[in-house]
Amino acid sequence: MGKPRVLSGVQPTGTLHLGNYLGAIRNWVDDQHDSDNFFCVVDLHAVTVPHDPTMLAENTRAIAALYLACGIDLSCSTIFVQSQISAHAELAWLLNCVTPLNWLERMIQFKEKAVKQGENVSVGLLDYPVLMAADILLYDADRVPVGEDQKQHLELTRDIALRVNHQFGAGDSLGKGGEGDSILKVPDPAIRKAGARVMSLTDGANKMSKSDPSEMSRIEILDSPDQIKKKIKRCKTDPVRGLEFDNPERPECNNLLGLYQVLSNQTKEAVATECAHMGWGQFKPLLTAAAIATLEPIQHKYQDILNDPGYLDTMLKDGQTKANEVAQATLNRVKTAMGFSLPAA
Ligand code: TYM
Repeated sequence: MGKPRVLSGVQPTGTLHLGNYLGAIRNWVDDQHDSDNFFCVVDLHAVTVPHDPTMLAENTRAIAALYLACGIDLSCSTIFVQSQISAHAELAWLLNCVTPLNWLERMIQFKEKAVKQGENVSVGLLDYPVLMAADILLYDADRVPVGEDQKQHLELTRDIALRVNHQFGAGDSLGKGGEGDSILKVPDPAIRKAGARVMSLTDGANKMSKSDPSEMSRIEILDSPDQIKKKIKRCKTDPVRGLEFDNPERPECNNLLGLYQVLSNQTKEAVATECAHMGWGQFKPLLTAAAIATLEPIQHKYQDILNDPGYLDTMLKDGQTKANEVAQATLNRVKTAMGFSLPAA
């Protein structure tokens, strides 16, 4: 048996923050040598909300460069751009035709984002999770490492795969198929406990997000040491002395301790003991130092990659070739099962 297949992706909407890194990319890097990995920059998803066309290509390349800078190893991982593989949009269309509308209408992220778009909410935003299902299912992914906020989308992906297998998989002549992996592999989510939900620095009840209008709410991967210091210095805390995890009355405390835990690679128990009697004035410099120590090497590597644009171009071209081969084979499988005629080989 070969290694398990992993697929994941990030949208090129603005730069990455600590939530994206700790919830997703760091886990991709940690586990990559045990699997065969495909990591895409999901630029088709980035246009489901209003976007700046003059920035899309640049942001897409920046995210690809950040994948490398964070430690993605090309000997076991393929990095590619979603829009360069037409099978993603094509499979999304086929999946649209088997996905009940009400499955999409109950997606939490759609409801949250739709409120912000008002009258202008696009069909694409509603369809976002079907495109995400296409991304995953095209690569026969066994595991999909993401942050906690993507759990519902992954459950939907599983439901869509099961429905395709049931409707079009090997079965009797009336089309009653099997429930297994006959056409599409049913993937498992991979959501780690620590770092799966990094909260805003200005409000411990809201998740850290690229779309928060306040830059003070997030630490970005490319923030300078001074910016990191300033953001942590000003972040929301509480007047209680002694720091603790899991007190529902102290969401900021739980979030900042959790960040420190993952950034300093310690166990929860070790951090709880170390910080049990600390005040914020003692804790904040520790968190600042841990954040800078994690991000500085990534930033240096990122600059090196940007200084050699040819390298990035070649990597993305290779990624496109490899991803296209896998994606096209799955697409053909689905089209055949659904009754389409394929062009002669
Ligand atoms: P995006 O760009 O919004 O988020 C990328 C990844 O970062 C995680 N994440 C967080 N993790 C912890 N704390 C946070 N505050 C936080 N904010 C974001 C997300 O869970 C995600 O793993 N829909 C995906 C993009 C996508 C995708 C896919 C992912 C499209 N197709 C196929 C996996 C497989 C998303 O949320 O992107």
